[in-house]
Amino acid sequence: MEYNIAVVRGDGIGPEVIREAVKVLNAVGGKYGHTFHYNYVLAGGEAIDETGRCLPDETVSIAKASDAVLLGAVGGPKWDTLPGDERPERALLGLRKELGLFANLRPAMVFDELADASPLKPEIIAGGLDIVVVRELTGGIYFGEKGLKDTDMGPAAYDVEQYSEEEVRRIARVAFDMAMKRNKRVTSIDKANVLESSRLWRRIVAEVAEEYPEVALDNMYVDNGAMQLVRNPKHFDVIVTSNIFGDILSDEASQITGSIGMLPSASLANGNFGMYEPVHGSAPDIAGTGKANPLATILSAGMMLRYTFGLMEEANAIDNAVRAFLKEGCRTFDIATRDTVPLTTSETGDKVASLI
Ligand code: IPM
Ligand code: MN
Repeated sequence: MEYNIAVVRGDGIGPEVIREAVKVLNAVGGKYGHTFHYNYVLAGGEAIDETGRCLPDETVSIAKASDAVLLGAVGGPKWDTLPGDERPERALLGLRKELGLFANLRPAMVFDELADASPLKPEIIAGGLDIVVVRELTGGIYFGEKGLKDTDMGPAAYDVEQYSEEEVRRIARVAFDMAMKRNKRVTSIDKANVLESSRLWRRIVAEVAEEYPEVALDNMYVDNGAMQLVRNPKHFDVIVTSNIFGDILSDEASQITGSIGMLPSASLANGNFGMYEPVHGSAPDIAGTGKANPLATILSAGMMLRYTFGLMEEANAIDNAVRAFLKEGCRTFDIATRDTVPLTTSETGDKVASLI
């Protein structure tokens, strides 16, 4: 088969990790007889420098015409002083909204070989961890009404948290569908003791739960959820939550695996379309040094094969190659121990490609 992939290399280490994911995809294509066509498009800081805009229309139209989007990372200190609307990160929000990517899947897994890397005590993560955060991605406070106004306390700014029933329903279904393929447990995280939008959230999630009698649902307030993630992370299978809570909790969940450089993500629309990117950012401090870990981007490419192209065997081949890489004792700079010589970004890509 032939597939068209819009690729945003982005800023910082973005281009370096994308290069390795493309290497691995091409190895998969060679082995299984697929051709991947890459359309490189601009977004983020690079787009600002070249076109004056963080998300050129052309990028959106090429992305829409493609089968999927693969993205490295955007942003960096060079653009940090721009006003909010013109920052590279705006490009991500624009892509999410324009492409209808309402469901963000962020798996947080502890690979057995890397159990030492977790900052949690061994007894807390013994036997491994496997959590997926399902984050609502195109609603809530990120996209609600915002503005400035005068108040009796002086000038003020506001951002509105708002969810419609339908927005909650569709993200809840993604979470329950996912739980059906896993351990059949969903934890919905909200702040229903305080927020009206969370009470609506909780009511709709309970309604959706009735469509999935085999799945056990529990609800947690976000403050407790943040605590339970480090106290008893094994409690969680699938977490479903709002845009802003998901932003925060997915960083926390990723950190308990000890290696944010290993974590992929998928942002899905209705149907099979999706955008795939590592959870980590553009890490400008190590750009160009060969120290970036491309495994999160490689695993993101694997998610693309699984969720958008429906190529399960090929997706497993990528996951297995990464596992074999670790099993052989290969390490990247971020997960190196004292007795390993870390592989560079491109050596890592070569090695994983050879294990496909
Ligand atoms: C993320 C990032 C983005 C977000 C930023 C860069 C806009 O933190 O993908 O988690 O807040 O969603
Ligand atoms: Mn974030």
